[in-house]
Amino acid sequence: MRASGLFFSCVVAASLLLVSCGQETEEDPATSADAEILSIMIEEMDPAADGIWQSAGWIITEEGEQELWPTTDEGWQAVADSAERLKTLSADLDAPVYSAMGKPWSLSLVRLTEASEAARVAAEARDKQGLFDAGGDIYRACLMCHLRYAREAEMAGSDAGE
Ligand code: HEC
Repeated sequence: MRASGLFFSCVVAASLLLVSCGQETEEDPATSADAEILSIMIEEMDPAADGIWQSAGWIITEEGEQELWPTTDEGWQAVADSAERLKTLSADLDAPVYSAMGKPWSLSLVRLTEASEAARVAAEARDKQGLFDAGGDIYRACLMCHLRYAREAEMAGSDAGE
């Protein structure tokens, strides 16, 4: 009796183990895609967007209002490069591997691509208002995807205000 009870629980334990192993392998691809998206966001997307947002607009300091727009050719070039980087990242994120994400995913990337191209054109033309407007459109494209796909609602706006 005892022996067969032990045998029974071993079989149950073994099959539970199999079930959980099976689940793990099934979950792996999704988890690694999530981790990959998060690291692209933090290490690449965010710095590239900052390269535009931190160079367009005004900040209020003790001394009063200060303009953020570049004052040198190198500065404007860096903004154009950031815009180009955002376009590349948009294309990377629209790869077939993410197609399961659905239409809103691709649509927000189309918006991000358009806004980034507008930012690049504005930077090359030294067009301050154009760059400011494109920066707003970029922000809305980030928001569009985050509202739909990001797990935490509070991260929807990411750090655009910084
Ligand atoms: C096509 C969809 C999409 C677009 C467009 C997008 N993101 Fe994201 N972003 C995500 C998803 C999904 C996550 C959540 C990833 C996770 O938690 O696994 C995320 C997370 C982030 C995070 C991490 C937040 C945290 O948890 O700390 C930052 C920062 C971020 N995005 C910045 C941006 C910026 C800046 C833009 C626009 C320039 C942008 N993202 C555009 C999909 C997108």
